[in-house]
Amino acid sequence: MGQGREAEHGHRAHPGDRAHPGDRAHPGDQAQLGHKASSGPRAHFHPGRGDFEGVLGLLAGLTMSFGRGRSARLAAELAGVRVGDRVVDVGCGPGRFLREAAERGAEAVGVEPSGQMRRIAGWRTPGALSGRVRVVDGTAERIPLGDGSATVVWAVASFHHWSDPEAGLAEVHRVLQPGGRLLIAERLTRPGGWFRHHALTWEQGQDLVAQVERAGFSDVTAGRHPLGRVQVLAVQARRPAN
Ligand SMILES: C[S@@+](CC[C@H](N)C(=O)[O-])C[C@H]1O[C@@H](n2cnc3c(N)ncnc32)[C@H](O)[C@@H]1O
Repeated sequence: MGQGREAEHGHRAHPGDRAHPGDRAHPGDQAQLGHKASSGPRAHFHPGRGDFEGVLGLLAGLTMSFGRGRSARLAAELAGVRVGDRVVDVGCGPGRFLREAAERGAEAVGVEPSGQMRRIAGWRTPGALSGRVRVVDGTAERIPLGDGSATVVWAVASFHHWSDPEAGLAEVHRVLQPGGRLLIAERLTRPGGWFRHHALTWEQGQDLVAQVERAGFSDVTAGRHPLGRVQVLAVQARRPAN
């Protein structure tokens, strides 16, 4: 699955990555989530979809429509998207990653709770790709697609918004066909970094690896990938083949 991967790690974090003190969730975030510390990663910072409606949603959507080509290419390369794939993008926002998948010959379905984002994704999809791109109203926790209907599921910068990661991972597992590929990508931050509510630390990525395994996936890895001045944390896995 992985091309262009700078490093790949299984369960062990890079020793240097664990060396930062205070690498834990903001206490307020845990409380806001009502999230059991033992059942999921300490990565669960910013649930909710209301942020992406109204004027703010419009501004966020337009901002995310541009300048994400390198991220989209990275996601497509990591997931090994090719002609004939059926890609489901969970939390697709304005749809830049859908267009990347479609340009590579895949059929792409975005699952997106924000009406504002769905509208922008529609506007931004060129006519030439419209037969291969669609966006449906849904969430990670409730994906309105059939069992085994995807060869690839990815979630880029959306996992940290999921209100129930355990339910979301169960849905992703259901929607993937056996042998299908999962990619969860988030910006990598240092503990206490200013972007921490919209990013994961390396240690949180390791927690996510464990959670993805508990959800029944195999070949679960975490890798870090430079992207300009930031790094992307990519957790990848497969639904077992049988
Ligand atoms: C930071 S944006 C990322 C959009 C897009 N993936 C990108 O990288 O350009 C996060 C998106 O996640 C969506 N979202 C929020 N809660 C969600 C949930 N529970 N399940 C799926 N998506 C969700 C938001 O509406 C928003 O469009």
